[in-house]
Amino acid sequence: MQISFSAAALPKTGAILLPVFDDRKPTAAFAAVDKASGGAVARAMKAAAFEGKTGKILDIVSPGDLSNPFVFLIGAGAKKDFDALAAQNLGGAGAARALATREKSAVFALDGFSGGKISGGALAARVAHGARLKCYRFDKYRTKEEKADKPTLTKIAINTPAKDAKSEYAPLGKLGDGVFLTRDLVSEPANILYPEEFAKRCKKLVDLGVKVKVLGEAEMKKLGMGSLLGVGQGSVRESKLVAMEWMGGKKTDAPVAIVGKGVTFDTGGISLKPAPGMEDMKWDMGGAGAVTGAMAAIAGRKAKANVVGIVGLVENMPDGNAQRPGDVVKSMSGQTIEVLNTDAEGRLVLADALWWAQETYKAKTVIDLATLTGAIIVSLAHEFGGMFTKDDKLAKKLDAAGAASGDKLWRMPLTKNHDEMIKSDIADMQNIGGKGGGSSTAAAFLGRFIKDDVSWAHLDIAGMAWNTKDKPTCPKGGSGYGVALLDEFVRKNFE
Ligand code: BES
Ligand code: MN
Ligand code: ZN
Repeated sequence: MQISFSAAALPKTGAILLPVFDDRKPTAAFAAVDKASGGAVARAMKAAAFEGKTGKILDIVSPGDLSNPFVFLIGAGAKKDFDALAAQNLGGAGAARALATREKSAVFALDGFSGGKISGGALAARVAHGARLKCYRFDKYRTKEEKADKPTLTKIAINTPAKDAKSEYAPLGKLGDGVFLTRDLVSEPANILYPEEFAKRCKKLVDLGVKVKVLGEAEMKKLGMGSLLGVGQGSVRESKLVAMEWMGGKKTDAPVAIVGKGVTFDTGGISLKPAPGMEDMKWDMGGAGAVTGAMAAIAGRKAKANVVGIVGLVENMPDGNAQRPGDVVKSMSGQTIEVLNTDAEGRLVLADALWWAQETYKAKTVIDLATLTGAIIVSLAHEFGGMFTKDDKLAKKLDAAGAASGDKLWRMPLTKNHDEMIKSDIADMQNIGGKGGGSSTAAAFLGRFIKDDVSWAHLDIAGMAWNTKDKPTCPKGGSGYGVALLDEFVRKNFE
Protein backbone atom coordinates (compact mmCIF):
# COMPACT_ATOMS: atom_id res chain seq x y z
CA MET A 1 0.00 0.00 0.00
CA GLN A 2 1.34 3.38 -1.00
CA ILE A 3 0.85 6.06 1.67
CA SER A 4 1.21 9.75 0.84
CA PHE A 5 0.54 13.13 2.41
CA SER A 6 -0.71 16.21 0.62
CA ALA A 7 -1.99 19.69 1.41
CA ALA A 8 -3.24 20.31 -2.14
CA ALA A 9 -6.89 20.25 -3.21
CA LEU A 10 -8.67 16.88 -2.89
CA PRO A 11 -8.22 14.49 -5.82
CA LYS A 12 -11.11 14.22 -8.27
CA THR A 13 -10.98 10.41 -8.40
CA GLY A 14 -11.05 7.68 -5.79
CA ALA A 15 -13.01 7.36 -2.56
CA ILE A 16 -13.14 10.24 -0.11
CA LEU A 17 -12.96 9.31 3.57
CA LEU A 18 -14.42 12.05 5.70
CA PRO A 19 -14.25 11.80 9.49
CA VAL A 20 -17.17 13.17 11.52
CA PHE A 21 -17.24 13.65 15.31
CA ASP A 22 -20.45 12.98 17.17
CA ASP A 23 -21.10 16.74 17.40
CA ARG A 24 -21.39 16.63 13.57
CA LYS A 25 -19.75 20.05 13.30
CA PRO A 26 -18.53 20.37 9.71
CA THR A 27 -14.75 20.53 9.33
CA ALA A 28 -13.12 22.56 6.56
CA ALA A 29 -12.74 19.33 4.59
CA PHE A 30 -16.40 18.46 5.13
CA ALA A 31 -17.52 21.91 3.99
CA ALA A 32 -15.39 21.69 0.85
CA VAL A 33 -16.61 18.22 -0.13
CA ASP A 34 -20.20 19.15 0.66
CA LYS A 35 -19.95 22.28 -1.45
CA ALA A 36 -18.47 20.37 -4.39
CA SER A 37 -21.34 17.88 -4.13
CA GLY A 38 -23.91 20.65 -4.20
CA GLY A 39 -24.93 20.00 -0.61
CA ALA A 40 -25.60 16.30 -1.21
CA VAL A 41 -23.21 15.15 1.52
CA ALA A 42 -24.85 17.18 4.29
CA ARG A 43 -28.31 16.15 3.04
CA ALA A 44 -27.28 12.47 3.11
CA MET A 45 -25.92 12.79 6.65
CA LYS A 46 -29.17 14.34 7.81
CA ALA A 47 -31.40 11.90 5.93
CA ALA A 48 -29.55 8.89 7.34
CA ALA A 49 -29.45 10.44 10.84
CA PHE A 50 -25.73 9.72 10.90
CA GLU A 51 -24.46 10.34 14.42
CA GLY A 52 -20.70 10.09 13.99
CA LYS A 53 -20.37 7.23 16.47
CA THR A 54 -16.97 5.54 16.58
CA GLY A 55 -16.49 3.06 13.76
CA LYS A 56 -19.88 3.73 12.14
CA ILE A 57 -19.74 4.51 8.43
CA LEU A 58 -22.22 6.16 6.09
CA ASP A 59 -21.89 5.30 2.39
CA ILE A 60 -22.70 8.17 0.07
CA VAL A 61 -22.52 7.02 -3.54
CA SER A 62 -21.78 9.47 -6.33
CA PRO A 63 -23.11 12.54 -4.50
CA GLY A 64 -24.41 15.39 -6.67
CA ASP A 65 -21.86 17.13 -8.82
CA LEU A 66 -18.83 15.48 -7.23
CA SER A 67 -16.70 13.46 -9.64
CA ASN A 68 -15.49 11.05 -6.94
CA PRO A 69 -17.55 7.86 -6.89
CA PHE A 70 -17.83 7.63 -3.11
CA VAL A 71 -17.84 9.74 0.00
CA PHE A 72 -17.67 7.68 3.16
CA LEU A 73 -18.44 9.44 6.41
CA ILE A 74 -16.37 7.79 9.14
CA GLY A 75 -17.67 8.16 12.68
CA ALA A 76 -14.97 9.50 15.01
CA GLY A 77 -16.93 9.53 18.29
CA ALA A 78 -16.42 12.20 20.94
CA LYS A 79 -13.93 14.91 20.03
CA LYS A 80 -12.64 15.32 23.58
CA ASP A 81 -11.62 11.64 23.86
CA PHE A 82 -10.04 11.43 20.43
CA ASP A 83 -6.40 10.30 20.88
CA ALA A 84 -3.63 8.55 18.95
CA LEU A 85 -5.25 5.12 19.18
CA ALA A 86 -8.63 6.52 18.15
CA ALA A 87 -6.94 8.10 15.13
CA GLN A 88 -5.34 4.77 14.25
CA ASN A 89 -8.65 2.97 14.54
CA LEU A 90 -10.32 5.60 12.40
CA GLY A 91 -7.64 5.03 9.79
CA GLY A 92 -8.31 1.31 9.97
CA ALA A 93 -12.07 1.76 9.61
CA GLY A 94 -11.70 4.02 6.59
CA ALA A 95 -9.19 1.71 4.94
CA ALA A 96 -11.45 -1.31 5.48
CA ARG A 97 -14.33 0.51 3.79
CA ALA A 98 -12.20 1.61 0.84
CA LEU A 99 -10.75 -1.90 0.48
CA ALA A 100 -14.25 -3.26 0.01
CA THR A 101 -14.81 -1.07 -3.09
CA ARG A 102 -13.22 -1.54 -6.51
CA GLU A 103 -11.42 1.80 -6.24
CA LYS A 104 -7.67 2.07 -6.72
CA SER A 105 -7.21 5.01 -4.38
CA ALA A 106 -8.73 6.65 -1.33
CA VAL A 107 -8.09 9.92 0.44
CA PHE A 108 -8.64 10.85 4.08
CA ALA A 109 -9.89 14.44 4.05
CA LEU A 110 -8.54 15.78 7.36
CA ASP A 111 -8.47 19.56 6.87
CA GLY A 112 -9.89 21.07 10.07
CA PHE A 113 -10.25 17.67 11.76
CA SER A 114 -8.70 17.98 15.21
CA GLY A 115 -9.17 15.79 18.29
CA GLY A 116 -9.14 16.64 21.98
CA LYS A 117 -5.97 14.64 22.60
CA ILE A 118 -4.24 14.69 19.24
CA SER A 119 -4.20 17.03 16.27
CA GLY A 120 -2.27 18.21 13.23
CA GLY A 121 0.55 16.15 11.78
CA ALA A 122 0.55 13.66 14.66
CA LEU A 123 -3.13 12.91 14.09
CA ALA A 124 -2.67 12.59 10.32
CA ALA A 125 0.28 10.24 10.82
CA ARG A 126 -1.72 7.99 13.16
CA VAL A 127 -4.60 7.81 10.68
CA ALA A 128 -2.13 6.79 7.97
CA HIS A 129 -0.51 4.19 10.24
CA GLY A 130 -3.84 2.63 11.21
CA ALA A 131 -4.97 2.55 7.58
CA ARG A 132 -1.80 0.81 6.47
CA LEU A 133 -1.96 -1.74 9.30
CA LYS A 134 -5.50 -2.66 8.26
CA CYS A 135 -4.46 -3.27 4.64
CA TYR A 136 -2.11 -6.12 5.54
CA ARG A 137 -2.75 -9.37 3.70
CA PHE A 138 -0.99 -12.71 3.85
CA ASP A 139 -1.88 -14.04 0.42
CA LYS A 140 1.34 -15.52 -0.91
CA TYR A 141 -0.11 -19.04 -1.00
CA ARG A 142 -3.32 -18.14 -2.86
CA THR A 143 -2.78 -19.03 -6.49
CA LYS A 144 -6.39 -19.15 -7.61
CA GLU A 145 -8.03 -16.15 -5.99
CA GLU A 146 -10.78 -14.63 -8.15
CA LYS A 147 -9.95 -11.16 -9.40
CA ALA A 148 -13.14 -9.88 -7.85
CA ASP A 149 -11.98 -11.06 -4.41
CA LYS A 150 -8.60 -9.33 -4.62
CA PRO A 151 -8.59 -5.77 -3.31
CA THR A 152 -7.85 -3.15 -5.97
CA LEU A 153 -6.84 -0.37 -3.59
CA THR A 154 -3.16 0.50 -3.93
CA LYS A 155 -2.97 4.10 -2.74
CA ILE A 156 -4.06 5.87 0.41
CA ALA A 157 -3.54 9.61 0.54
CA ILE A 158 -3.82 11.77 3.63
CA ASN A 159 -5.05 15.24 2.84
CA THR A 160 -3.97 17.61 5.59
CA PRO A 161 -2.53 21.12 5.82
CA ALA A 162 -0.19 19.95 8.63
CA LYS A 163 3.38 20.38 7.43
CA ASP A 164 4.83 17.88 9.89
CA ALA A 165 2.53 14.99 8.92
CA LYS A 166 5.19 13.23 6.88
CA SER A 167 7.92 13.57 9.51
CA GLU A 168 5.49 12.43 12.22
CA TYR A 169 4.71 9.41 10.10
CA ALA A 170 8.33 8.37 9.44
CA PRO A 171 8.88 6.37 12.68
CA LEU A 172 5.36 4.91 12.44
CA GLY A 173 6.18 3.67 8.95
CA LYS A 174 9.13 1.77 10.44
CA LEU A 175 6.90 0.47 13.22
CA GLY A 176 4.46 -0.72 10.57
CA ASP A 177 7.29 -2.52 8.78
CA GLY A 178 8.11 -4.29 12.03
CA VAL A 179 4.48 -5.26 12.66
CA PHE A 180 4.20 -6.65 9.13
CA LEU A 181 7.38 -8.67 9.57
CA THR A 182 5.95 -10.19 12.74
CA ARG A 183 2.61 -10.93 11.06
CA ASP A 184 4.46 -12.63 8.19
CA LEU A 185 6.50 -14.77 10.58
CA VAL A 186 3.48 -15.72 12.67
CA SER A 187 1.37 -16.56 9.61
CA GLU A 188 3.94 -18.76 7.87
CA PRO A 189 3.21 -22.48 8.12
CA ALA A 190 5.72 -24.60 10.01
CA ASN A 191 6.87 -26.56 6.94
CA ILE A 192 8.22 -23.27 5.61
CA LEU A 193 9.24 -21.50 8.80
CA TYR A 194 11.41 -23.82 10.89
CA PRO A 195 14.32 -22.67 13.07
CA GLU A 196 16.88 -22.34 10.26
CA GLU A 197 14.49 -20.41 8.01
CA PHE A 198 13.50 -18.17 10.93
CA ALA A 199 17.18 -17.44 11.55
CA LYS A 200 17.59 -16.58 7.86
CA ARG A 201 14.80 -14.04 8.11
CA CYS A 202 16.44 -12.53 11.19
CA LYS A 203 19.61 -12.14 9.13
CA LYS A 204 17.76 -9.81 6.76
CA LEU A 205 17.84 -7.23 9.57
CA VAL A 206 21.51 -6.75 8.70
CA ASP A 207 20.21 -4.38 6.00
CA LEU A 208 18.91 -2.12 8.79
CA GLY A 209 22.28 -2.03 10.53
CA VAL A 210 21.49 -4.83 13.00
CA LYS A 211 24.29 -7.24 13.90
CA VAL A 212 22.94 -10.78 13.75
CA LYS A 213 24.57 -13.79 15.42
CA VAL A 214 23.27 -17.33 14.89
CA LEU A 215 24.21 -20.24 17.15
CA GLY A 216 23.64 -23.82 16.00
CA GLU A 217 23.31 -27.01 18.03
CA ALA A 218 27.05 -27.66 18.28
CA GLU A 219 27.70 -24.23 19.81
CA MET A 220 24.73 -24.49 22.13
CA LYS A 221 25.90 -27.92 23.28
CA LYS A 222 29.31 -26.45 24.12
CA LEU A 223 27.58 -23.75 26.14
CA GLY A 224 25.66 -26.41 28.05
CA MET A 225 22.16 -25.49 26.86
CA GLY A 226 20.67 -28.88 27.65
CA SER A 227 17.28 -27.38 28.42
CA LEU A 228 16.72 -25.75 25.02
CA LEU A 229 18.36 -28.60 23.13
CA GLY A 230 16.20 -31.22 24.83
CA VAL A 231 13.09 -29.65 23.31
CA GLY A 232 14.45 -29.75 19.76
CA GLN A 233 15.88 -33.24 20.17
CA GLY A 234 12.95 -34.98 18.50
CA SER A 235 12.97 -32.76 15.43
CA VAL A 236 14.89 -33.25 12.19
CA ARG A 237 15.21 -29.46 12.06
CA GLU A 238 18.28 -28.03 13.77
CA SER A 239 17.59 -25.75 16.77
CA LYS A 240 18.97 -22.24 16.59
CA LEU A 241 19.57 -19.32 18.90
CA VAL A 242 19.67 -15.89 17.27
CA ALA A 243 20.86 -12.58 18.71
CA MET A 244 20.03 -9.33 16.95
CA GLU A 245 22.04 -6.38 18.26
CA TRP A 246 21.09 -2.76 17.76
CA MET A 247 23.56 -0.44 19.49
CA GLY A 248 22.13 2.99 18.76
CA GLY A 249 22.73 4.34 22.26
CA LYS A 250 25.75 5.28 24.35
CA LYS A 251 28.63 2.82 24.19
CA THR A 252 28.68 2.58 27.98
CA ASP A 253 24.99 1.76 28.41
CA ALA A 254 24.16 -1.93 28.97
CA PRO A 255 21.59 -3.08 26.41
CA VAL A 256 17.98 -3.92 27.14
CA ALA A 257 17.41 -7.56 26.26
CA ILE A 258 14.15 -8.69 24.70
CA VAL A 259 13.88 -12.46 24.54
CA GLY A 260 11.33 -14.46 22.56
CA LYS A 261 9.98 -18.02 22.60
CA GLY A 262 10.34 -19.35 19.09
CA VAL A 263 8.77 -22.79 18.98
CA THR A 264 8.18 -23.01 15.23
CA PHE A 265 5.76 -25.85 15.83
CA ASP A 266 4.56 -27.28 19.13
CA THR A 267 3.06 -30.77 18.86
CA GLY A 268 3.52 -31.14 22.60
CA GLY A 269 6.24 -33.72 21.96
CA ILE A 270 5.73 -37.13 23.61
CA SER A 271 3.11 -35.40 25.83
CA LEU A 272 1.28 -35.04 22.52
CA LYS A 273 -1.43 -32.42 22.10
CA PRO A 274 -4.88 -33.45 20.88
CA ALA A 275 -5.44 -33.13 17.11
CA PRO A 276 -8.18 -30.46 17.03
CA GLY A 277 -6.63 -27.02 16.89
CA MET A 278 -3.07 -28.29 16.79
CA GLU A 279 -2.53 -26.27 13.61
CA ASP A 280 -2.57 -23.18 15.83
CA MET A 281 0.79 -24.25 17.16
CA LYS A 282 2.47 -22.92 14.02
CA TRP A 283 2.27 -19.58 15.79
CA ASP A 284 3.96 -20.81 18.95
CA MET A 285 6.85 -18.63 17.81
CA GLY A 286 4.78 -15.47 18.38
CA GLY A 287 7.15 -14.20 21.10
CA ALA A 288 10.17 -14.60 18.84
CA GLY A 289 8.16 -13.04 16.02
CA ALA A 290 7.37 -9.99 18.16
CA VAL A 291 11.01 -9.63 19.23
CA THR A 292 12.18 -9.80 15.61
CA GLY A 293 9.58 -7.29 14.42
CA ALA A 294 10.42 -4.96 17.30
CA MET A 295 14.10 -5.09 16.41
CA ALA A 296 13.19 -4.19 12.82
CA ALA A 297 11.12 -1.23 14.03
CA ILE A 298 13.75 -0.03 16.52
CA ALA A 299 16.63 -0.32 14.03
CA GLY A 300 14.47 0.98 11.19
CA ARG A 301 13.87 4.27 12.95
CA LYS A 302 17.45 4.37 14.21
CA ALA A 303 16.50 4.46 17.87
CA LYS A 304 19.09 6.02 20.17
CA ALA A 305 19.13 3.02 22.47
CA ASN A 306 21.02 -0.24 22.92
CA VAL A 307 18.67 -3.17 22.43
CA VAL A 308 19.40 -6.80 21.81
CA GLY A 309 16.74 -9.22 20.61
CA ILE A 310 17.28 -12.90 21.35
CA VAL A 311 15.13 -15.70 20.01
CA GLY A 312 15.28 -19.38 20.95
CA LEU A 313 14.16 -21.39 17.93
CA VAL A 314 13.13 -25.04 18.16
CA GLU A 315 10.53 -27.46 16.84
CA ASN A 316 8.82 -29.66 19.46
CA MET A 317 8.15 -33.06 17.90
CA PRO A 318 7.40 -36.61 19.10
CA ASP A 319 10.03 -39.01 17.79
CA GLY A 320 12.17 -42.02 18.67
CA ASN A 321 14.79 -39.56 19.79
CA ALA A 322 12.43 -37.09 21.46
CA GLN A 323 12.80 -36.29 25.13
CA ARG A 324 10.54 -38.28 27.45
CA PRO A 325 8.40 -37.23 30.38
CA GLY A 326 10.57 -37.75 33.42
CA ASP A 327 13.86 -36.93 31.71
CA VAL A 328 16.23 -34.69 33.61
CA VAL A 329 18.11 -32.04 31.65
CA LYS A 330 20.85 -29.63 32.69
CA SER A 331 20.45 -25.97 31.74
CA MET A 332 23.26 -23.57 30.88
CA SER A 333 22.82 -22.00 34.32
CA GLY A 334 23.85 -25.33 35.84
CA GLN A 335 20.41 -25.94 37.32
CA THR A 336 18.77 -29.29 36.56
CA ILE A 337 15.16 -29.69 35.42
CA GLU A 338 12.85 -32.68 35.60
CA VAL A 339 10.74 -32.56 32.44
CA LEU A 340 7.44 -33.95 33.66
CA ASN A 341 5.52 -32.74 30.62
CA THR A 342 7.20 -32.29 27.26
CA ASP A 343 4.41 -29.89 26.26
CA ALA A 344 5.65 -27.33 28.79
CA GLU A 345 8.53 -26.70 26.41
CA GLY A 346 8.53 -22.92 25.97
CA ARG A 347 9.94 -22.34 29.44
CA LEU A 348 12.70 -24.88 28.73
CA VAL A 349 13.71 -22.93 25.65
CA LEU A 350 13.56 -19.60 27.46
CA ALA A 351 15.56 -20.90 30.44
CA ASP A 352 18.69 -21.14 28.32
CA ALA A 353 17.92 -18.16 26.09
CA LEU A 354 17.42 -15.92 29.14
CA TRP A 355 20.55 -17.13 30.86
CA TRP A 356 22.64 -16.69 27.72
CA ALA A 357 21.23 -13.18 27.24
CA GLN A 358 22.34 -12.14 30.73
CA GLU A 359 25.76 -13.80 30.50
CA THR A 360 26.54 -12.46 27.03
CA TYR A 361 25.15 -8.94 27.19
CA LYS A 362 25.14 -8.13 30.92
CA ALA A 363 21.66 -6.73 30.33
CA LYS A 364 20.12 -5.16 33.42
CA THR A 365 16.61 -5.02 31.97
CA VAL A 366 15.23 -8.21 30.44
CA ILE A 367 11.77 -8.64 28.94
CA ASP A 368 10.64 -11.97 27.57
CA LEU A 369 7.63 -12.58 25.35
CA ALA A 370 6.13 -16.02 24.90
CA THR A 371 2.99 -17.84 23.85
CA LEU A 372 3.61 -19.75 27.05
CA THR A 373 0.37 -21.06 28.53
CA GLY A 374 -3.21 -21.83 27.57
CA ALA A 375 -4.06 -20.79 31.13
CA ILE A 376 -3.40 -17.11 30.37
CA ILE A 377 -6.25 -17.26 27.83
CA VAL A 378 -8.52 -18.61 30.57
CA SER A 379 -7.59 -15.59 32.70
CA LEU A 380 -7.38 -12.73 30.21
CA ALA A 381 -9.09 -14.01 27.05
CA HIS A 382 -7.79 -12.13 24.01
CA GLU A 383 -7.86 -8.73 25.71
CA PHE A 384 -4.50 -8.45 27.47
CA GLY A 385 -1.09 -9.96 27.50
CA GLY A 386 -0.25 -11.27 30.99
CA MET A 387 2.59 -9.44 32.73
CA PHE A 388 4.64 -11.13 35.44
CA THR A 389 7.28 -9.22 37.31
CA LYS A 390 8.47 -8.59 40.85
CA ASP A 391 9.59 -5.08 39.91
CA ASP A 392 6.81 -2.54 40.49
CA LYS A 393 8.65 0.21 38.63
CA LEU A 394 9.11 -1.95 35.58
CA ALA A 395 5.45 -3.00 35.77
CA LYS A 396 4.42 0.65 35.67
CA LYS A 397 6.55 1.35 32.63
CA LEU A 398 5.27 -1.67 30.76
CA ASP A 399 1.68 -0.87 31.70
CA ALA A 400 2.10 2.64 30.31
CA ALA A 401 3.68 1.34 27.11
CA GLY A 402 0.83 -1.13 26.75
CA ALA A 403 -1.83 1.55 27.12
CA ALA A 404 -0.09 3.96 24.75
CA SER A 405 0.60 1.36 22.06
CA GLY A 406 -2.74 -0.44 22.24
CA ASP A 407 -0.92 -3.72 23.06
CA LYS A 408 -2.58 -3.88 26.45
CA LEU A 409 -1.11 -5.70 29.45
CA TRP A 410 -2.56 -6.90 32.71
CA ARG A 411 -0.33 -7.64 35.69
CA MET A 412 -0.62 -11.15 37.10
CA PRO A 413 0.66 -12.58 40.39
CA LEU A 414 4.14 -14.01 40.77
CA THR A 415 4.98 -14.96 44.35
CA LYS A 416 7.31 -17.14 46.39
CA ASN A 417 4.51 -19.66 46.74
CA HIS A 418 4.30 -20.09 42.99
CA ASP A 419 7.98 -20.90 43.07
CA GLU A 420 7.36 -23.56 45.74
CA MET A 421 4.98 -25.30 43.35
CA ILE A 422 7.75 -26.32 40.94
CA LYS A 423 9.93 -28.17 43.46
CA SER A 424 11.05 -31.53 42.09
CA ASP A 425 11.72 -34.75 43.99
CA ILE A 426 14.84 -35.56 42.04
CA ALA A 427 16.12 -32.36 40.36
CA ASP A 428 16.43 -28.65 41.12
CA MET A 429 12.96 -28.03 39.72
CA GLN A 430 10.26 -29.58 37.57
CA ASN A 431 8.85 -27.94 34.45
CA ILE A 432 5.20 -27.91 35.55
CA GLY A 433 3.37 -26.92 38.71
CA GLY A 434 0.43 -28.74 40.18
CA LYS A 435 -3.19 -27.98 39.46
CA GLY A 436 -4.06 -24.32 38.97
CA GLY A 437 -2.13 -21.12 38.44
CA GLY A 438 -0.40 -22.49 35.37
CA SER A 439 0.64 -19.12 34.02
CA SER A 440 2.15 -18.06 37.34
CA THR A 441 4.06 -21.31 37.90
CA ALA A 442 5.42 -20.97 34.35
CA ALA A 443 6.58 -17.45 35.22
CA ALA A 444 8.11 -18.70 38.49
CA PHE A 445 10.03 -21.28 36.49
CA LEU A 446 11.47 -18.55 34.24
CA GLY A 447 12.31 -16.49 37.32
CA ARG A 448 14.80 -19.16 38.39
CA PHE A 449 16.91 -18.21 35.37
CA ILE A 450 17.07 -14.51 36.17
CA LYS A 451 20.02 -13.07 38.06
CA ASP A 452 19.35 -11.15 41.27
CA ASP A 453 20.39 -7.73 40.00
CA VAL A 454 18.33 -7.92 36.83
CA SER A 455 15.00 -6.19 36.36
CA TRP A 456 12.87 -8.71 34.51
CA ALA A 457 9.33 -9.10 33.22
CA HIS A 458 7.72 -12.04 31.48
CA LEU A 459 4.87 -11.34 29.06
CA ASP A 460 2.61 -14.30 28.29
CA ILE A 461 1.09 -13.47 24.91
CA ALA A 462 -0.63 -16.80 24.12
CA GLY A 463 -3.99 -15.02 23.83
CA MET A 464 -2.70 -12.13 21.73
CA ALA A 465 -0.41 -13.37 18.97
CA TRP A 466 -3.26 -14.55 16.73
CA ASN A 467 -6.58 -12.90 15.90
CA THR A 468 -9.45 -15.25 15.10
CA LYS A 469 -11.56 -12.19 14.19
CA ASP A 470 -10.92 -8.96 12.31
CA LYS A 471 -9.77 -6.07 14.53
CA PRO A 472 -9.91 -2.31 13.82
CA THR A 473 -6.34 -2.16 12.54
CA CYS A 474 -5.71 -5.83 11.81
CA PRO A 475 -7.30 -8.45 9.60
CA LYS A 476 -7.69 -11.88 11.18
CA GLY A 477 -4.49 -13.91 11.45
CA GLY A 478 -1.15 -12.95 12.95
CA SER A 479 -1.61 -9.78 15.00
CA GLY A 480 1.89 -8.41 15.41
CA TYR A 481 1.09 -7.93 19.10
CA GLY A 482 4.09 -6.83 21.11
CA VAL A 483 5.93 -4.89 18.42
CA ALA A 484 4.31 -1.52 19.16
CA LEU A 485 4.54 -2.30 22.89
CA LEU A 486 8.30 -2.95 22.82
CA ASP A 487 8.96 -0.04 20.49
CA GLU A 488 7.09 2.30 22.82
CA PHE A 489 8.74 0.81 25.92
CA VAL A 490 12.19 1.41 24.45
CA ARG A 491 11.32 4.88 23.12
CA LYS A 492 9.93 6.11 26.44
CA ASN A 493 12.49 4.61 28.80
CA PHE A 494 15.79 4.16 27.01
CA GLU A 495 16.14 6.98 24.47
N1 BES B 1 2.34 -23.29 23.31
C1 BES B 1 1.60 -23.77 24.39
C2 BES B 1 0.68 -22.71 25.01
C3 BES B 1 -0.42 -22.20 24.13
C4 BES B 1 -1.70 -22.71 24.20
C5 BES B 1 -0.20 -21.15 23.27
C6 BES B 1 -2.70 -22.22 23.41
C7 BES B 1 -1.20 -20.63 22.49
C8 BES B 1 -2.47 -21.16 22.56
C9 BES B 1 2.55 -24.27 25.47
O1 BES B 1 3.75 -24.79 25.02
C10 BES B 1 1.85 -25.36 26.21
O2 BES B 1 1.60 -26.37 25.61
N2 BES B 1 1.53 -25.13 27.47
C11 BES B 1 0.85 -26.08 28.25
C12 BES B 1 1.53 -26.14 29.60
C13 BES B 1 1.10 -27.29 30.45
C14 BES B 1 1.59 -28.59 29.86
C15 BES B 1 1.67 -27.10 31.83
C16 BES B 1 -0.61 -25.61 28.40
O3 BES B 1 -0.84 -24.42 28.46
O4 BES B 1 -1.47 -26.46 28.40
MN1 MN C 1 3.61 -26.85 24.58
ZN1 ZN D 1 4.42 -24.12 23.23
